[in-house]
Amino acid sequence: MKKPRSKSTMADTADKHILYQKSVQSPEFELDFFRDRYNEIRGGFPQLMREDFCGSALLSTEWCKLDPKNKAIGVDVCQDTLNWGIEHNIKPAGEDVASRVQLLNEDVLKVLPQEKADVVCAMNFSYCIFKKRDILKRYFENVLKGLNSDGLFFLDLLGGTETMDVVEEDRDVDDDNFVYVWEQEKFNPINNHILCHIHFDFADGSRMENAFTYNWRLWSLPELQEILLEAGFSHVHIYWEEFAEDEDDPENDYLVGTGNYRAVTQVDQQESWLAYIVAEV
Ligand SMILES: C[S@@+](CC[C@H](N)C(=O)[O-])C[C@H]1O[C@@H](n2cnc3c(N)ncnc32)[C@H](O)[C@@H]1O
Repeated sequence: MKKPRSKSTMADTADKHILYQKSVQSPEFELDFFRDRYNEIRGGFPQLMREDFCGSALLSTEWCKLDPKNKAIGVDVCQDTLNWGIEHNIKPAGEDVASRVQLLNEDVLKVLPQEKADVVCAMNFSYCIFKKRDILKRYFENVLKGLNSDGLFFLDLLGGTETMDVVEEDRDVDDDNFVYVWEQEKFNPINNHILCHIHFDFADGSRMENAFTYNWRLWSLPELQEILLEAGFSHVHIYWEEFAEDEDDPENDYLVGTGNYRAVTQVDQQESWLAYIVAEV
């Protein structure tokens, strides 16, 4: 007699990397941000970008699509994720783009590619995996060694009063029939260690639980600025999102993010924020 087979759910059949790329990453915005800041600070446009903690190398691939002169080096310790990126991002971009993306299955603390980069980036707070100040400084020193004399290092950081709390937030991902859920399960104010997860919920009621888990130290902007300067960077700029009245909903009392970021030295605390940090060689 045939055994009844349970029907697979949407969560069973979904690919967590595709969901992550659609809900978390914004390559178009970030690559424009890198090019615009580089042009403002240095003049001209960068060509060789190194993407640390590159995962599926989406940014590296999009970087090489932007300009036929662009090249990228993606660095990640997880060969499986790099392989996923080769199949789903790099190969589909075509031979010319693929020939300009180099992937290194290495530790960002040790990697030293032959060619120095114009830009190194470490996005989505990945460096928060380093919980000790001396290790984070060692990472920043290694980035500096891998940058040209007019290079720039880009990082991002999340913060705000809500990030020091236990919270769960969800967001519909447009047109894609799933919900992105960000859970902060624990925050320890003694050492600022934070445990977070990404889950995905689907229209059939299924959930991909703990698709990604992050065990981080939530660094602060003053700490990062100090450690970057101690590591040898010459200047550090903090870019903060501008807020404006909600044009779509004038009744709304809250200001909404405009997507424009400006270099600032003083802001008011918010419940949550995402800042970009740019460090100059
Ligand atoms: C949060 S994902 C970041 C993915 C992508 N960069 C982004 O912006 O969304 C973190 C990645 O860092 C990688 N990773 C963790 N520790 C690393 C290390 N010491 N050196 C290189 N990669 C590392 C993991 O394998 C994982 O793919």
